[in-house]
Amino acid sequence: MKERLRELEQEAIEKVTTANSLQALQDVRIEYLGKKGPITEVLRGMGKLSAEERPVIGALANEVRAAIQTNIEEKQDYLQQQALEAKLAEETIDVTLPGRPVKRGNAHPLTQIIEEIEDLFIGMGYTIAEGPEVETDRYNFEMLNLPKGHPARDMQDSFYISEETLLRTHTSPVQARTMEAHKGKGPVKIICPGKVYRRDADDATHSHQFTQIEGLVVDKDIRMTDLKGTLDVFAKRMFGEDRSIRLRPSFFPFTEPSVEMDISCKMCDGKGCSVCKGTGWIEILGAGMVHPNVLEMAGFDSNEYTGFAFGMGPERIAMLKYGIEDIRNFYGNDQRFLHQFHRPSEEGGR
Ligand code: PHE
Repeated sequence: MKERLRELEQEAIEKVTTANSLQALQDVRIEYLGKKGPITEVLRGMGKLSAEERPVIGALANEVRAAIQTNIEEKQDYLQQQALEAKLAEETIDVTLPGRPVKRGNAHPLTQIIEEIEDLFIGMGYTIAEGPEVETDRYNFEMLNLPKGHPARDMQDSFYISEETLLRTHTSPVQARTMEAHKGKGPVKIICPGKVYRRDADDATHSHQFTQIEGLVVDKDIRMTDLKGTLDVFAKRMFGEDRSIRLRPSFFPFTEPSVEMDISCKMCDGKGCSVCKGTGWIEILGAGMVHPNVLEMAGFDSNEYTGFAFGMGPERIAMLKYGIEDIRNFYGNDQRFLHQFHRPSEEGGR
């Protein structure tokens, strides 16, 4: 019986040694120490032993059981530790690895042009005004000296929503709205960027929706020279200090006199090339002195107050500045186009 117990101990310990999972170890425990295991069996058969043998075998059986038990526990600790280490190794995060670059977007080139122009005029004391894109006939035309039936309305093919409402064809209605809000008291000094709409067929230079920036100054003693000086500062900041401007007579119903401003062509420095169509000049914007009728309709006394206004297209300015040939590029959302306009603060991770 002694030998049998020693054998069992030997066997069990060998199996513990080869058990390489917690499950296998559990199987060994059940096999040797379980209720139906061989050691329990030995203990059960103690009754058949003589009085002298009983305590000896009993003690030995307990010793063997304890030895197996200890062995299993040690192995269990070892396996658990190993499992933990494997898990930790697997989950290691190397914080020194370089991160994956995040794709950064950038402001739309038109937004950039508009912000640049806003900053420039804010620096000259202007504030930003806004107005509705769905506009009334009154503000879009009538208050701008374009009564119903005026032939100049045809210059701006319009999207009418009803007889009295339309998508604004220019940002000039914000002139009338702003002056009205000032209730006949100057100074007024605003620029107004925004979307405008015209019933044009889209092509390389036309779009049914585009943007404009309107400027308006109304005060006492505002003269044409103030307009010219302002436009000169604007042109040089936007296109380079070496550019010069010229004003050509033009016509807008809401300004008198009206002008168009050209800048000297950067490509040929005024000598004439394909970009300026041989003239040496490139048209940039429309402007003029606010028509007395417009001042009066908006509640200003035209004997006391004078003003100037200008209107320009950020698309055209961006096209000239960056050599973009098709206006539709601005509206196509092609990433290859848009990502060329990262500002320094927007660099990194495309
Ligand atoms: N509103 C005019 C246009 O859309 C531009 C303009 C604005 C002209 C202000 C003169 C003064 O063409």
